[in-house]
Amino acid sequence: MELPFAENYRIKMVEPIYRSTRSEREKWIHEAHYNLFNLKSSQVYIDLLTDSGTGAMSDRQWGAIMTGDESYAGSSSFFNLKEKVQDLFGFEYLLPVHQGRAAENVLFSVLVKEGDVVPGNSHFDTTKGHIEFRKAKAIDCTIDEAFDTECEYLFKGNIDIRKLKLVFDKYPKEQIPLIVVTLTCNSSGGQPVSMANLRQVSKLAKEYNIPVVYDSARFAENAWFIQQREQGYRDKSIKEIVREMYSYADGMTMSSKKDGIVNMGGLLAMSHAEWYEKASVFNIMYEGFVTYGGMAGRDMNALATGLDEVTESEYLETRINQVHYLGQQLIDYGIPVQRPLGGHAVFVDAKKFLKHVPKEEYIAQTLAVELYLEAGVRGVEVGTLLADRDPETHLNRYPKLEFLRLAVPRRTYTNNHMDVVAAGLKNIFDRRNRIKHGFKIEHEAPIMRHFTVELKKY
Ligand code: F0G
Repeated sequence: MELPFAENYRIKMVEPIYRSTRSEREKWIHEAHYNLFNLKSSQVYIDLLTDSGTGAMSDRQWGAIMTGDESYAGSSSFFNLKEKVQDLFGFEYLLPVHQGRAAENVLFSVLVKEGDVVPGNSHFDTTKGHIEFRKAKAIDCTIDEAFDTECEYLFKGNIDIRKLKLVFDKYPKEQIPLIVVTLTCNSSGGQPVSMANLRQVSKLAKEYNIPVVYDSARFAENAWFIQQREQGYRDKSIKEIVREMYSYADGMTMSSKKDGIVNMGGLLAMSHAEWYEKASVFNIMYEGFVTYGGMAGRDMNALATGLDEVTESEYLETRINQVHYLGQQLIDYGIPVQRPLGGHAVFVDAKKFLKHVPKEEYIAQTLAVELYLEAGVRGVEVGTLLADRDPETHLNRYPKLEFLRLAVPRRTYTNNHMDVVAAGLKNIFDRRNRIKHGFKIEHEAPIMRHFTVELKKY
């Protein structure tokens, strides 16, 4: 008999969690104005709000914490991290920052100005936020297959080269400061970008002399999919694949809270000395001196170790197996999800799930609240609330897809927890035709409203 696959770790420390009752949850979610971000973590049983900063560090990472160097300038922890970044991604220059959006803020302060356009594959909301905040425009060039949740295309994070070329031809070069390629593409379902596509993007960008930057939050998960799904990569190590991926880019922003497997941190790395010089000024202003930029020395050490661990095949197999364990149960129950399953999360197709809730009543949010009430599980809406209003017309933007995202924190929950999540959703699926109404907005912020929005039952 072939031995089954099991986790590549054992557990050394545990954190108790409280399984609440439905009546407690009804009270709490009402007090939270039906916004799951307003809940206290103690009111959540299984927290799949995000895989960002919520993972468990290894004993090696905790060990590295103890040897952190907290010098203001020239800390050994910085050089430790820099060496790792150079080795893995091949970039000469590194600026640590406190998290991913800070890297965007620093880099876009150098590159993006009013009136610019920034093409990419479904930019993440903070990326889009930082572009729009500068009165520039993010243009989505994702392939059409990504918007059909039943289509089994293996690299739904890919950029449509034809769409990208149209942008390059339509706008003068001076108005296109960079292309952002998000690895994996979070907004379309944790979907990977193929090596072939990265190569094509780079070739076209070079023809038009436009730099390519990778949003690298989940770079290792992307490399794993290339190894598993793309011809010619089965025998390559994850590190070799990462090295090739980044040979096609000019720079990277990274939220280390995902594939860095740390709870806080980020980085900006690049090959151009001129970018580095300009970005250093903004880094010092917004983040901190160039050798720590918002991160404690100990945390840079933990990140350097995390970058090592995340590129081990055994780790990635454990990680992605768990996400697929959850996703496959939902598929077996007939629940519509983004296919094929992605890297960090299962994305439930809320429009197909709750067919009677009108789009004006926030379909995916309705499903997210139902799941919380049913099982104490917190997912997150990736739909109309997140898509926000059009900056010019101030009308709601209705995205093609409304998702309930169930993001799985790294090395944190067991498959028994995944069973609870799947059973909770199955119970709702069985009574889905009785759910006819969602929510209306009572209060919202002018930008990134989903974090603080207050809702009322319809
Ligand atoms: N880029 C991507 C692809 C992301 O998923 C995120 C964060 C960021 C940038 C910003 O990084 O949070 O460190 O400032 N994603 C989290 C999520 C919040 O839940 O998907 P940050």
